[in-house]
Amino acid sequence: MIFDSHAHYDDEQFDIDRTELLGSVLPSKGVEGIIDMSSSYESIEKVMKLTEDYPNIYGAVGIHPENAKNLPEGWLEYVENCASNKKIIAIGEIGLDYYWEDACPRDIQKDVFIAQVELANRLNLPISVHDRDAHGDTFDILRKYRPRGVVHCFSGSVELAREIVKLGMYIGVGGVVTFKNARHSVDVVRDIPLDRLLLETDCPYLSPVPMRGKRNDSSNIAYTATKVAEIKGISITEVLESSRENIRTLFGI
Ligand code: NI
Repeated sequence: MIFDSHAHYDDEQFDIDRTELLGSVLPSKGVEGIIDMSSSYESIEKVMKLTEDYPNIYGAVGIHPENAKNLPEGWLEYVENCASNKKIIAIGEIGLDYYWEDACPRDIQKDVFIAQVELANRLNLPISVHDRDAHGDTFDILRKYRPRGVVHCFSGSVELAREIVKLGMYIGVGGVVTFKNARHSVDVVRDIPLDRLLLETDCPYLSPVPMRGKRNDSSNIAYTATKVAEIKGISITEVLESSRENIRTLFGI
């Protein structure tokens, strides 16, 4: 009963075995649903194709902050057109990344993020937010525009997580919570109610322990769910069911 709220199966790391993985390996390991996130303008088409090829893969279209520079004329209209497809259920992943600031200056990142938040609001779609080393500006924009959605792979403090939840948004929990140095993430999972937590991989990146360092895939959510269950003192089944229910509610699946 694994539902992955944030994955990148369009990534080239899956080129060698994507068909077997999505067609048989993952379903045999209990993966029943995946939301695949586009990250660049070019990746949108790949995400759309995956949602056509596999009934249990849903898609999000949008431009990641790292790829927000030099977008072609009419990019926002393109995103809007793609979002009208019924398997496209969110705008993502979008946000701010001041760690990779060299890839794209902050003012361009903000413009592209805000344009996509406004688009999501206009289309009444949730968003999947990427926030790396940009907590202040990300939160200011979320507070101002009040989109529905999730802050994926949440890396902020408990206080910030509470503020995000107050806005009606969800907190994305990935493999990082299993890392030894994950004090912050563990505290956030302990504090935030189960009905506001979504499980995710961000695969092929961020494999949970004991798979850390290897290519990640949605079946590894079992390890993340085990850690969340341990932190909250509940069963793994309860964690997986709750996350799946939250994903269905937020994304209207
Ligand atoms: Ni991602």
